[in-house]
Amino acid sequence: MSAIIEPTKVILDFKKIIVKPYTRKKQVKLSELKDYCAYPEAAEKILSEGRDPIIYEYYEYGPTETSGNINFGLTVIYPGKIGKEYYMTKGHFHEKDGAELYLCLKGRGILLMQNKEGKAVTIELEPGSIGYVPVGWGHRTINIGRGKFVFFFAYPSDAGHDYMIVKEKGFSKIVIEEGKSLKIIDNPRYRGTSD
Ligand SMILES: [Fe+2]
Repeated sequence: MSAIIEPTKVILDFKKIIVKPYTRKKQVKLSELKDYCAYPEAAEKILSEGRDPIIYEYYEYGPTETSGNINFGLTVIYPGKIGKEYYMTKGHFHEKDGAELYLCLKGRGILLMQNKEGKAVTIELEPGSIGYVPVGWGHRTINIGRGKFVFFFAYPSDAGHDYMIVKEKGFSKIVIEEGKSLKIIDNPRYRGTSD
């Protein structure tokens, strides 16, 4: 199935943190993220208090899933922690070969990447820096600042997203705050990525 894509102008609205027009909008609350957390009991405690905070949201322009095209958009991760773990995205692996770019626009964050063998690499992102996710590396972004962490992303339209592998096995590293210091430690709930 091939779609005819017209040349398009898209606006990044930095105040509202959206792209216009967009084809997809997603807001992820704690209740949806809890199974990805290193400290699920901390997530359950927050939810049991009747709170379900928004952890992150994104707006994407991606009018097709056909090869050769590009999807892009803006993500904002709110500041906060679930237990010791900083607010983060679920993270995923692409189903097909396809790299991804992250351009930080605001705040401070970490791009956590992991290959199929479980080797993890982290890159700190501040405004103006670009994180490059090579083909085959899973990726998650984490807000380590006090304000919103905002970045632009772009990836091949037909890349696909595998979230289940992260939900079931996790990333090998987690980013936490302990004793008021940022630490990148082994994930105690990691269950390996190789079958
Ligand atoms: Fe991706």
